[in-house]
Amino acid sequence: MPIIFGKAPGKIILFGEHAVVYGQPAIAIPVNRVNATAKIFPDLNIASGGIQIRALDINLDCHLTDLEKDHPLRKAVDLTLKRILLKQTPAFTIQIESEIPVAAGMGSSAAVAIAMIRALSAFLGAPLPADEISSLAYEVEKCHHGNPSGIDNSVIAYQRPVFFIRGKPIRFLDIKKPTHWIIADSGEKTPTRETVSAVSVLHASNTQYYDSIFEQMGAITQEAQWALSKGDVISLGGLMNENQRLLELLDVSNPHLESLIQAARSAGAAGAKLSGGGRGGNMIALVQPDNINVVEKALQNAGAQQTITTILAEGRLP
Ligand code: PMV
Repeated sequence: MPIIFGKAPGKIILFGEHAVVYGQPAIAIPVNRVNATAKIFPDLNIASGGIQIRALDINLDCHLTDLEKDHPLRKAVDLTLKRILLKQTPAFTIQIESEIPVAAGMGSSAAVAIAMIRALSAFLGAPLPADEISSLAYEVEKCHHGNPSGIDNSVIAYQRPVFFIRGKPIRFLDIKKPTHWIIADSGEKTPTRETVSAVSVLHASNTQYYDSIFEQMGAITQEAQWALSKGDVISLGGLMNENQRLLELLDVSNPHLESLIQAARSAGAAGAKLSGGGRGGNMIALVQPDNINVVEKALQNAGAQQTITTILAEGRLP
């Protein structure tokens, strides 16, 4: 039996993080430069039905049932097996690798779950469609942070830029003109669970005020979808800067992210903001194509641990 691969890209949120948890729209795009991969191979050394799980990046190599029931890796396997319902499963090893920075706003947890579900459903002879993969991955995401909006699993499962509103059918963005983005990692790791929970405490303390911030973010995201489809860099840059100002009011930014954002703007980026949960992780800058190298250098000089440049073009990313 050949080795079966499942692969899933990273993602980045362009507009609307946090507000999306409260029903406002957000825009996210897949980032195909970094991927999570799951490999499955039958293992004759394991008793029938046994499953070995290996993720050497996090020093994990054990039997599936040695993991807690709500461990995300176990959950991804259990949910897929439950969905496919075979009378008997062959013994196998599932091996996970990921190039996606962890706890950095690039969707590493959703990508790992999706790579696993893709590989496992293919291995069992019943490859699942994107909507089902996305739903299963959403259940896994709940193990990571209690109240995920569902944007990560959606953009990664469909591998297309999405305009996402929680609980509504997904809309895909129609991109007519390319835009150029630089993603820079601050190197600080803050789990999304922490910032989502901090924002929920703020929201509960003054619901009206924070709802109005979320609404302003929602309005920015609505405008951004049109600017994005036309490739209107000047408008998009202004909208990003405004979105960043509102994220600062939610207290999810931090000095390191802000120094990267400032460095990008000073080097000529049209706009820059943090991306994802915040208080660390990644920021993104929108740049003109002739300015990519200058902004990338400025971000590195300001302490970015890693930069990834990417193009959003006709709904696809290279
Ligand atoms: O940190 P990330 O990239 O997983 O993004 C989280 C985005 C939030 O809006 C903060 C949470 C969510 O579930 O949408």
